[in-house]
Amino acid sequence: MSDVAEVIKERRSIRKYEEKDVPDEVLNSLLETAGWSPSWANTQCWELIVVRDRALKESLKETIFPKNPAANAITQAPVLLALCGKLKSSGFYKDIVTTKFGDWFMFDLGLFTQTLCLAAQNIGLGTVIVGLFDHDKAKSILKVPEGYELVVLIPIGYPAKISSAPKRREIGEFVHHNTF
Ligand SMILES: Cc1cc2nc3c(=O)[nH]c(=O)nc-3n(C[C@H](O)[C@H](O)[C@H](O)COP(=O)(O)O)c2cc1C
Repeated sequence: MSDVAEVIKERRSIRKYEEKDVPDEVLNSLLETAGWSPSWANTQCWELIVVRDRALKESLKETIFPKNPAANAITQAPVLLALCGKLKSSGFYKDIVTTKFGDWFMFDLGLFTQTLCLAAQNIGLGTVIVGLFDHDKAKSILKVPEGYELVVLIPIGYPAKISSAPKRREIGEFVHHNTF
């Protein structure tokens, strides 16, 4: 088993992919692992669309803002994941919001995304989380129903280029002791 800290630190956003396919068995095993992510009261509000269709990927690329450095990855990666969340589930108890933060679906989808990206890294697959695009256009292309939101697109495949790590804040810059 790999060292978790190593997997966390070595994961990079991958924006260039090899042409090599990701077999269904590999992908399914990865998605099964991601399904073990924690969520509000185990609500598991995530829904995932696996896009392999070339024409659909081309249409989705058109929803990406042109300056987005991940634009090409949308069509280049063999698999494109579209992560959606069910609304009014996470953070709710009997249809009533339980905290001042309202719907926690973004939080739970963030956890799912991170688990997925780390599990991918662990088996040699690269990912990039893509959040900057026209969500409503992409939602309509993918026929996401009422009551659900499409939040991120995640190209996944074998890395062709691994960029160097952007600098992180030192712990002294974000850790507070006892009070803020
Ligand atoms: C919520 C979220 C949205 C992101 N959206 C984009 C995006 O639209 N395009 C892109 O190239 N990278 C995107 N990223 C990747 C970040 O730019 C990247 O994680 C950050 O620069 C740190 O680099 P690293 O992932 O290689 O460690 C996104 C990351 C997160 C967490």
